[in-house]
Amino acid sequence: MDVDFVYLLCLGLCLCNGDEEEKEELPRPSLSAWPSSEVKCKSNVTLRCWTHFQNVTVTLGKLHNSGYQRELRSAGKEAEFHLTNLQPEDAGGYFCAYRTAASHRWSGKSQHLQLVVTDGAGRGGENPPRPSNSKLIFLTTFSCLSISLLFVSVYFIYRCTQQGSSHEEPPKSDIERSGV
Ligand SMILES: *[C@@H]1O[C@H](CO)[C@@H](O)[C@H](O)[C@H]1NC(C)=O
Ligand SMILES: *[C@@H]1O[C@H](CO)[C@@H](O)[C@H](O)[C@H]1NC(C)=O
Repeated sequence: MDVDFVYLLCLGLCLCNGDEEEKEELPRPSLSAWPSSEVKCKSNVTLRCWTHFQNVTVTLGKLHNSGYQRELRSAGKEAEFHLTNLQPEDAGGYFCAYRTAASHRWSGKSQHLQLVVTDGAGRGGENPPRPSNSKLIFLTTFSCLSISLLFVSVYFIYRCTQQGSSHEEPPKSDIERSGV
């Protein structure tokens, strides 16, 4: 009776496993960049796709670029894609997927890895402040000029109204009001 029970349990597990292999999708792989996902222009980077199975075909794709596809066979659980002499247009989101020898379908895509290609040393950091500085100078000059112009016009208006009403005393209150 015990033997029967174990046998049935085994059979059930085997059937379940068989079902899983047929129906369940392959686990998603994960993608990482070495030495870093932020690299300088003209340098190299290695994108590593970690798959859950050995002996798989791995593909590397790029977001918004369906024409970009690299494929390789991996004997281990890791596939390495070497990207050399990186250019600014190589920056963007990458993902990988794999297919085992047994399954003819592809696994789900890995998470997206954002590759950043920085410009040469220093230049990228120095450029941005300049426009903001000149903008600040322009704004300051513009504000100063506007305020000066306002004062000059107020002064002239005051002078004109003073001359116009120099003979009479009462309108002074009007001047004070317009001055404020
Ligand atoms: C990048 O890889 C190429 C070819 O593998 C090599 O010739 C070059 O020296 C490498 N560049 C750097 C910066 O490591
Ligand atoms: C890997 O899969 C291929 C078929 O794609 C097969 O011929 C080969 O024997 C497999 N290698 C290993 C180590 O399992």
